Amino acid sequence: MATKKITMKKQSICCIGAGYVGGPTMAVIALKCPDINVTVVDKNPEKIKAWNGDLNYLPVYEPGLKEVVKKTRNKNLFFSNDVDKAIRDSEIIFVAVNTPTKTKGKGAGMAADLKYIKECAKNIGKVAESDKIVVEKSTLPVRTAEKIKEILEENSKGINFEVISNPEFLAEGTAIQDLFKSDRVLIGGEQTKSGKKAISRIVKIYENWIPRRKILTTNVWSAELSKLASNAMLAQRISSINSLSAICEKTGADIEEVSKAVGMDKRIGKYFLKASVGFGGSCFQKDILNLVYLSKYYGLDEVANYWHQVVKINNFQKDRLSEKIINSFQGDTKSKKVSIFGWAFKKDTNDSRESAAIHITDKLIDEDIIVSIYDPMVEEKRIIDDMVNLWLSMNVSSNQIELKLKNIKIEKDYSSCINQSSCLAIITEWDIFKSYDWKKLINSMEQPRFLFDGRNILNPSMIRKHTENFYSIGR
Ligand code: NAD
Ligand code: UGA
Repeated sequence: MATKKITMKKQSICCIGAGYVGGPTMAVIALKCPDINVTVVDKNPEKIKAWNGDLNYLPVYEPGLKEVVKKTRNKNLFFSNDVDKAIRDSEIIFVAVNTPTKTKGKGAGMAADLKYIKECAKNIGKVAESDKIVVEKSTLPVRTAEKIKEILEENSKGINFEVISNPEFLAEGTAIQDLFKSDRVLIGGEQTKSGKKAISRIVKIYENWIPRRKILTTNVWSAELSKLASNAMLAQRISSINSLSAICEKTGADIEEVSKAVGMDKRIGKYFLKASVGFGGSCFQKDILNLVYLSKYYGLDEVANYWHQVVKINNFQKDRLSEKIINSFQGDTKSKKVSIFGWAFKKDTNDSRESAAIHITDKLIDEDIIVSIYDPMVEEKRIIDDMVNLWLSMNVSSNQIELKLKNIKIEKDYSSCINQSSCLAIITEWDIFKSYDWKKLINSMEQPRFLFDGRNILNPSMIRKHTENFYSIGR
């Protein structure tokens, strides 16, 4: 008797937003769930073209990412500009669009700008022809799910939508490992029958590689708040250690020793106690300001002030290093050159959003200093865009921007970067910087040689053999 072959239709999911979260997260889901077709869509055609292009030039640089994309692309991982088709074809729609701080209107400078999220919700409501589970992957203020559901229903024709909060905890530079071995996966949903069913559909995806005990299911508001709380507490540790670094500099204590001593208490733990020039990245500042805004909204001014201080200390830390560099010229800064090593907000990423380097460069250029920049991964265009965007946000005129840009030189290698420079500042902790021949490098600089280590990657006693003018954080 002939047996009838039963072909099961593969489950299809999609993700709107092919950025630092959408790209790596969906690539890992595709790798770990070969039975699911994953489509990542974005409104930016250049980005999609790059995701479909040369593996060495993917729009996101992450160690291990290109290998995952190589194994999955055009098998069960697809990148496309056709957002509407992806919505129609998918039962589950992840939304990983950007949620920057608002720049105008109510809450400007504090609240999260939800225009991209709202745009997506409106579109899903308009385009969907069957029931959907919409998953918030972006970091959002508490109770955004309520707003999303409202928009979805306003625009739909009697379709059922479940909104799930599944915030992402990956860190850039370690995204692939973080996704492979997540500390936890958080899935929040409505505590109704259909809400619980939607939660279990998302649990099922992650269960393919994450142990069930690490998958936490909660109500929606707890999931949304836990994400903001996690980032706030991580950033708070950095601001705490950085505030102590300033005390170290006044007292003769050494922040590296203090950090080690404090971190050995297992109740405190050793992670996120590395003193630095200040935290950067697209999220810490934005998410804390979001929390501050939320606290104020609920009339919790003391709570708002408490968290706001984390951002204020971070600005203080960036300013302290800028001032130290400027003061090294003893008032004669005009046309002096400062070499900056590192533009990314941390090592192992090509992302420079909110990098301390941007803030410091701005302060130096205000003093007519020429800033020469070298980063092994961040592209020239991105560095220029970072500065132009900052100045535009400060209402600097285009003529002034043109003039300021004349003071920026971007170099392809570190030796050209320090050419004719008497002052060098390390802003990103790239491993490659540690391997340089520092004796040779310092000796090739102009006199008097000043070296500022904004990441404490160099050994002070070794460096001081070659120049007395060495500053590192909190030592
Ligand atoms: P990103 O800017 O790298 O990517 C967002 C993408 O969304 C962009 O490519 C943009 O073109 C696209 N987009 C915006 N609106 C769209 C629309 N209506 N339709 C289609 N595409 C649209 O941002 P990201 O760093 O990936 O962050 C995304 C979210 O994840 C943010 O809320 C962020 O706070 C959160 N998050 C980020 C990280 C991180 O490490 N970057 C980690 C955890 C959480
Ligand atoms: C951070 C969180 O670590 C992630 O869990 C979160 O998902 C993500 O934000 C997000 O929501 O976007 P990320 O910003 O990629 O990840 O990188 P981190 O490793 O947290 O570093 C942030 C900044 O803090 C960097 O500038 C880093 O150099 C700095 N930092 C970090 C320190 O100065 N000291 C430390 O001890 C640790």
